[in-house]
Amino acid sequence: MDDFERFALIVNGPALFNAIVTAIDLDLFRFLEESPGRQMSEIAESLEVEPSKLRVLLFAICATGLVKKRGEGYSNSALASDFFAKAGQDSWSRILPGWRALYYPAFAHLTNSVKESRNAALDAYPGSEDTLYARLQRDNVAEALLHDAMSAFTLRSLPSLLQKMDLGGCRRLLDLGGGDGTTALALVEMYPELQVTLVDLPSVAERARDVNDHERIEVLSGDAFALTFDEEFDAVLCSHFLEVFSPTQILSILSGVRHALRNNGRIYIYGFDPNDQETRGVFSARLALYLTTLATGNGMTYPAGDYETWLIESGFVDVSSSRGLPYEHGLTQGVKVDSLG
Ligand SMILES: C[S@@+](CC[C@H](N)C(=O)[O-])C[C@H]1O[C@@H](n2cnc3c(N)ncnc32)[C@H](O)[C@@H]1O
Repeated sequence: MDDFERFALIVNGPALFNAIVTAIDLDLFRFLEESPGRQMSEIAESLEVEPSKLRVLLFAICATGLVKKRGEGYSNSALASDFFAKAGQDSWSRILPGWRALYYPAFAHLTNSVKESRNAALDAYPGSEDTLYARLQRDNVAEALLHDAMSAFTLRSLPSLLQKMDLGGCRRLLDLGGGDGTTALALVEMYPELQVTLVDLPSVAERARDVNDHERIEVLSGDAFALTFDEEFDAVLCSHFLEVFSPTQILSILSGVRHALRNNGRIYIYGFDPNDQETRGVFSARLALYLTTLATGNGMTYPAGDYETWLIESGFVDVSSSRGLPYEHGLTQGVKVDSLG
């Protein structure tokens, strides 16, 4: 793709993005999966939409390359079949409605956020708390949309975590900011001896108990800045968590994590990992903008090198990272060693 094609795709992206989510709403991809090669009139009848409106939508979706037109017949591309037509929990059909409802309206406030140095898009959510996560505790519908999208995206990026994080011999793991328990459930299913303690905000903890209930997952309402664990865990996982905070806040959380870990316990930090120069990574860049304008006003998708620096500063040893994982992800780890021992 040359520079102009890339530019054209980006500036027209918001409209095309919405066309894709509308196609998801109408079940277009699933219909074409079951009935490939159907003509416009047949699709309009089945989806119960006016043919002239469907014509516009199909034009836009064909322009994205997600639907192919051969003669008068429409069919899913291979990517649309894989990403949208399957009913799995990791389907992009679960991810994009949340992006539309929460992420994309927020980006219109980016200029104010940058100029005023605050997450200006948060003004659209009632409450006085300074993060989206805290304010969503009173909005069940929006919170469900956010966590559905996060859970599905987490499932997409989970295989690399499961492959790179070795919890053999680990009995007790703390999943900090563990969300709805999607990762915790995958971990207890993979490690039959593992007991996970998930800590998140009260309404999210309640959601985790509802949707990912398991006898070896203990869900606690709590605040990562006020952990009271005392050398109880063999490992602590921060998955897509530290990136929502500022460096100062991260150092404060790492201090609590150190207290929570036993001697020789290990911390794992998993999430987006742009290149060191911070010039590449469109998923990471989008998330950094969302954190800035809406979620916390503080965080950023930090390169793994930043986490390594903060771990060393916090007294962890054997610090290392696996980088270049799918979806621009990286895994950084370090070991707690008692200063006295
Ligand atoms: C981006 S989500 C990550 C969820 C999950 N770990 C994953 O990988 O999908 C960040 C999570 O941090 C939680 N969170 C935010 N502030 C928190 C705090 N102060 N203490 C504990 N959890 C917090 C949010 O409620 C949310 O579930």
